[in-house]
Amino acid sequence: VNKAVELLQQGKVVAIPTETVYGLAANAFNPEAVVTIFKIKDRPFFDPLIVHTDSLQKIEGWVQDFPESAKKLAEAFWPGPLTLVLPKKETIPDIVTAGNPTVAVRIPNHPLTLDLLSKLDFPLAAPSANPFGYVSPTTAGHVDDQLGNKIPYILNGGPCKVGIESTIVSFASGQPTVLRLGGISLERLQEVTGPIEVQLHQNSNPLAPGQMDSHYAPRATFVFGQIGEQTIVNENLLYTGAITLSRVIPWIAEENQIQLSKNENLDEAASNIFAAMRILDKRGLRLILAEPLPDKGLGRAVNDRLRRAAHKN
Ligand code: TXA
Ligand code: MG
Repeated sequence: VNKAVELLQQGKVVAIPTETVYGLAANAFNPEAVVTIFKIKDRPFFDPLIVHTDSLQKIEGWVQDFPESAKKLAEAFWPGPLTLVLPKKETIPDIVTAGNPTVAVRIPNHPLTLDLLSKLDFPLAAPSANPFGYVSPTTAGHVDDQLGNKIPYILNGGPCKVGIESTIVSFASGQPTVLRLGGISLERLQEVTGPIEVQLHQNSNPLAPGQMDSHYAPRATFVFGQIGEQTIVNENLLYTGAITLSRVIPWIAEENQIQLSKNENLDEAASNIFAAMRILDKRGLRLILAEPLPDKGLGRAVNDRLRRAAHKN
């Protein structure tokens, strides 16, 4: 943690653990440091970043307005996998918000990162620590595989417990709107907010560009849908894999299949999804078939990731 503090104070970019996925962090108040994040990720500057901190009080200093309904969500779920989008003050540099008049903020729930944040006198801008458009990292090893040679340090906090990104709720228009499904299920959100609008898929000039259809894509051809009878033959079968909740597909090689949760626990499935996509992608498969999970709890957020991974196919 002390090494991370030192590097971040020098304006360097450091990978940090959170309960959702690893982040690629820099001083949010230092525009040059933030530019480095975009360069390392190869991320377009129109895609804004989430600002991470350890206290609600600090956030109050950066936003124009913190509506009661947003505070209720913060009290219910922070620290945790929830991001709130609120109208920003000038203290937050435009590079962080891609020129948007709002800022996305979150208090992550990871002991190392909370310790780190408490030792800094600035918040951390951090997107997921993957090259733009690829699967988010849920271990330090995943970060090292793809970005290890581009960053000076990875703070290793073990595997991410939640395993999918935070749920994003925007208060840009006053009414709460879900922009991204994530670690807090819709059911849990609605226990606090009542019925809530969901507005995913912002494709052109998007509100939440991370919602682009083709996100989370592995290299193999990825297909999302119910897996049926064997339709693939010959050597292609060797290069075919499957991701299911618990079902074993009789015609696909055992070593090319991943069951996300043998007990059909959707939280466990969410914590395994990105690692599963990486493992199968590393096996050099040509085709990965993925079956939808039940459309409830975190299953809905996992299905959203799988659908986007399969977008081109
Ligand atoms: O769980 C998470 O949220 C992880 C960890 C590291 O905190 N972070 C993460 O960041 O997933 P990223 O950059 O991969 O996704 C952030 C999403 C993007 O889709 C971005 O467009 C959206 O948040 N976003 C950021 N600021 C926004 C804003 N002002 N208005 C609307 N959407 C915003
Ligand atoms: Mg991301």
